[in-house]
Amino acid sequence: MTSTALTSFRDLIAALKRNGTLRSISRPVDPRFELVAIMRAVQRSGNQPLLFTNVTANPIAVATNILGRRNVLALALGLDSETLLPSLLAREAWQLDPVVVSDGPTHEVIQTESFDIGRDIPQIVHSERDAGAYITAGICIARHPVLGTYNASWNRIQLVGGDHARVRMMPPQHLGQYQSIAEQGDHPLPVAVAIGAPPALMLSAASKIPFEADEYRTAGGWQGSPLRLVPAKTVPLDVPADAEFVIEGHILPSVREAEGPFGEFTDGYVEVGQNHVLKVSAITRRRDAIYHVILAGGTEDTVLLGVPLMIEVLKQIGSLAKIRDIGFPGHIFGCVVSLEKTDDAQAKSVLEAALAAHAWMKVVVVVDTDVNPHDAQEVLWAIHTRHTPDTGILHIPRAGSFPRADVRDAHRGKIGIDATAPMAMRDTFRRRRFPGIEKIDPTAYFDPV
Ligand SMILES: Cc1cc2nc3c(=O)[nH]c(=O)nc-3n(C[C@H](O)[C@H](O)[C@H](O)COP(=O)(O)O)c2cc1C
Repeated sequence: MTSTALTSFRDLIAALKRNGTLRSISRPVDPRFELVAIMRAVQRSGNQPLLFTNVTANPIAVATNILGRRNVLALALGLDSETLLPSLLAREAWQLDPVVVSDGPTHEVIQTESFDIGRDIPQIVHSERDAGAYITAGICIARHPVLGTYNASWNRIQLVGGDHARVRMMPPQHLGQYQSIAEQGDHPLPVAVAIGAPPALMLSAASKIPFEADEYRTAGGWQGSPLRLVPAKTVPLDVPADAEFVIEGHILPSVREAEGPFGEFTDGYVEVGQNHVLKVSAITRRRDAIYHVILAGGTEDTVLLGVPLMIEVLKQIGSLAKIRDIGFPGHIFGCVVSLEKTDDAQAKSVLEAALAAHAWMKVVVVVDTDVNPHDAQEVLWAIHTRHTPDTGILHIPRAGSFPRADVRDAHRGKIGIDATAPMAMRDTFRRRRFPGIEKIDPTAYFDPV
């Protein structure tokens, strides 16, 4: 069942409070390591959305793991979780122009002088060897220097202090391409970093939208209503009117500085690299702004990156067979396709097309519809009990996958695993049922301890 999309970050947080899933933490928490360690521990247990209201050294509240579950993204966009992928695919074509209003909550507090990014926003340090505090949930908004179209992308930002920050934004990322066009004319590239942005913009910022498309229009289509924008205060850009924070500034031409190391989404580190420099010209925010933090490789990052990837996979496999759903338990260098098979050959064609849908699709598994593609335990069960190694493996040697130069060769090749039961043996492989199990609460049967 579809409903109205939630068009601001705080509306989503309020909805999670109302439905009882949000957990608030009011005891003092250290922004250096402790906050992220709590988040990581929660992601590995109940995976609830979190709101920290007492982060030491800064009065600003911190929200994290807000989109850590796929059904929260569905809630935010007013869509049904079961049909999230086909619904988003259908809405890609909607493309709604944003509306520009004269004032918005993101301008309740405006700092254009005497600000310090090392003081005025929470200084969250994530992993042991990180180079310091980073913005990890900042959406960089920029306009194509010639065409004027808007791009939005997530980029980690190292907070050096004062008006000085460093951004990881290399081409082929669109922001990097915009910057190199500006740099060719020796121009700084105006950017705005939105933190706590509308959920639909969060999703479009994580998606590979075609280079010539405008991401504000895509986000409007996904939320089913135009995005609300306000003119920025110090850069020639329109920015999300309802964002919690907007940091304005310019990416300097022909300047690179040592950025990193930074704990990355594969759980290792990206070592020090020569990356771009952001000179900040303003910090604007809501009066009671909520700062958003995302852990690279955590459940929230995985949902934001995984859903757009799965839309790409669905585009390629949707016409080949009846696809029930696509999951990405484990990581996003692969997926699990739930297939309503009517012919044994369908599994192989689905594997081939899914592996080809995106470079990152390195390991794809196809399961029957009685296996939950979002549950790693279930998927492994299907591999162990239904996969035939002699015939059910599709190996594509030497194919390129995750392209980062330092690990590219370690990711070469692709593999597809057919973990569906053969059509002729459907009855043999039919899973047994335990009548009444849906209604049983085992703890109600335990004797008191
Ligand atoms: C939370 C989060 C952080 C990200 N950080 C970075 C980053 O620091 N650098 C980068 O190149 N991509 C990063 N990404 C991936 C890009 O946002 C993503 O590839 C996006 O599609 C790029 O969009 P574009 O090339 O269409 O502009 C991040 C993604 C998420 C969800």
